Amino acid sequence: MAPEDHEGATSLLQSFERRFLAARALPSFPWQSLEEKLREPSGSELLLAILQKHEAVPTEPLDALYEALAEVLMAKESSQCHRSYLLPSGDSVTLSESTAIVSHGTTGLVTWDAALYLAEWAIKNPAAFTDRTVLELGSGAGLTGLAICKACYPRAFIFSDCHGQVLEQLRGNVLLNGFSLELYTPTDPSSPKVTVADLDWDEVTAAQLSAFQADVVIAADVLYCGEVTLSLVRVLKMLSACQRMNAPVVYVAYTIRSQDTGKLFITELERAGIYWEEVPPHAGQLFPYEEHSAIVILKLVLNGCHSVGR
Ligand SMILES: C[S@@+](CC[C@H](N)C(=O)[O-])C[C@H]1O[C@@H](n2cnc3c(N)ncnc32)[C@H](O)[C@@H]1O
Repeated sequence: MAPEDHEGATSLLQSFERRFLAARALPSFPWQSLEEKLREPSGSELLLAILQKHEAVPTEPLDALYEALAEVLMAKESSQCHRSYLLPSGDSVTLSESTAIVSHGTTGLVTWDAALYLAEWAIKNPAAFTDRTVLELGSGAGLTGLAICKACYPRAFIFSDCHGQVLEQLRGNVLLNGFSLELYTPTDPSSPKVTVADLDWDEVTAAQLSAFQADVVIAADVLYCGEVTLSLVRVLKMLSACQRMNAPVVYVAYTIRSQDTGKLFITELERAGIYWEEVPPHAGQLFPYEEHSAIVILKLVLNGCHSVGR
């Protein structure tokens, strides 16, 4: 296989692998590119590479396959699944997530595309987090924070959410990825101090917020309705007031689902005098989010006293 064909085939294989491990829906796989690749003269080599990579059993593969299939067919449908997200280091973040987009009255039990996009940006810009104390608002299943903890070397990371079931799953996912929630006794000095906080934006006080002493605050996919957006802005205003001398830098990522998404947020930021700017889009997709969806990251500087328009 020519080197450029080999590179193309490798990235196609990776794309399948990433989607498979993250249990993405089959229609989102790059079937068309695979079909085109297989039609090329070197297509049979690609097919061989796929078979070699995924043949786990050296003999009698069909028996093993039938047994596995029988197990799946007889198993009760589970409401939870495990999804793995590969990091460039070869490490991965594995999460227990709900199989339904909305369950137990919350959207926080699955990973949303903006969380993957923000994690990807963080991995490409680790200096924004290295040696910092990071507070995440509305962590959900925990993907962004865990990717930052594994790839960006923060000093401390505080996951937070307000929903009981989400917090329980989040704590489980932190432990599943090898971080401890016990009192901080690091064996690995590069490992961050990790905590999970029950933090409701409608109830949190300025004293509670300033106790975190966050250098960086992040949030992904938390602008999905007006009420939630206003609650989030309330927290940002409190952070701005209570950490006036060392206000954190804030990154908020969201998927633009309609032309109104983000508008209320920006209006409220400007009303509060919070400076914002759009982070330039980054190249090179690492995670299996919908590649055609429009996702933006806003960077906010809380102690700024002016605002800019789009
Ligand atoms: C759409 S999910 C996003 C989860 C995760 N950041 C992601 O992108 O995968 C929104 C999250 O915000 C949390 N949330 C909503 N309102 C909140 C509030 N008032 N206080 C704290 N968390 C809130 C929800 O519990 C949920 O986990």
